[in-house]
Amino acid sequence: MSSAPDTKKTNEQPEDLLLLLETIKEAALLAGELLRNGYPKIERIRFDHKGASDFVTEYDKGAEALIIKHIMSKYPKIGFVAEESGIVFSKDSEYKVIIDPLDGTNNFVHGIPHFSVSIAVAKNTELVCGVVYQPLLDEMLSAAKGLGARLNDVLLEIKDARPFSEMLLSTCLPYNNKGNHKIAISQINTLMPLVAGIRCPGSAALEIAYIALGRFDAFWSHGAQLDLWDIAAGIVIAREAGYLVTDLDGNITPEEWSSLLVSHPNRHTQLLTLLEKK
Ligand code: IPD
Ligand code: CA
Ligand code: CA
Repeated sequence: MSSAPDTKKTNEQPEDLLLLLETIKEAALLAGELLRNGYPKIERIRFDHKGASDFVTEYDKGAEALIIKHIMSKYPKIGFVAEESGIVFSKDSEYKVIIDPLDGTNNFVHGIPHFSVSIAVAKNTELVCGVVYQPLLDEMLSAAKGLGARLNDVLLEIKDARPFSEMLLSTCLPYNNKGNHKIAISQINTLMPLVAGIRCPGSAALEIAYIALGRFDAFWSHGAQLDLWDIAAGIVIAREAGYLVTDLDGNITPEEWSSLLVSHPNRHTQLLTLLEKK
């Protein structure tokens, strides 16, 4: 049996992917504990506005600070693209950590138990590992390039594609004052009569990662204007579990992820055609 990697040492550059993955898992656990303890089950919590329907709490900021501090203790020179702090410390590292400390803040402030911590790492422009952690369920979805995807310690394998009539899809609907509402509605109109159901649960990172578990059969986003920190970790996890990830033009490595489709390889082409940019 292989022993857990020693993550105590400090690394200049994170060449060892397993060690890097362990470090971002540890960071996600620390952030997740903060969110679990702060999650407002009955009472309301205070939040500020970043935009019309874009909220931020002390937990978003606190979780991000914990993540950055932990990763920096192991990789002092690594760069960060973090939702609440912006681009930090990225000077001379070819690696950057992409952080969404609380994906699903709107759910969190409304007491809806569906949110996650999402951390990915890119080497230059290539995503090399990622974790999406659901703290209330203690579910850690993780993956590293070439090493597969896991739920906690269990290696995930791709499942047979369901027929369209049995597929459960998820998407992100645009928020008030953000994204393209018409595109989202038109795509839902197209798909709704063909599949079993469509959900918009409210944590993009989690919904994308759930493809790896077969909890959703496909995820797409076009009108919602997702940011890289919403999707980066989920992309690695879904890919490593064997699912296909492209933008809606079919690109596997677009310069910018302005749209996204994650699905079983045997359903991807048909979904791309149905979702064709209107
Ligand atoms: C949001 C979630 C949501 C998506 C929004 C994102 P946040 O992230 O990922 O699912 O629909 O567009 O902004 O603000 O909760 O980190
Ligand atoms: Ca987010
Ligand atoms: Ca967030």
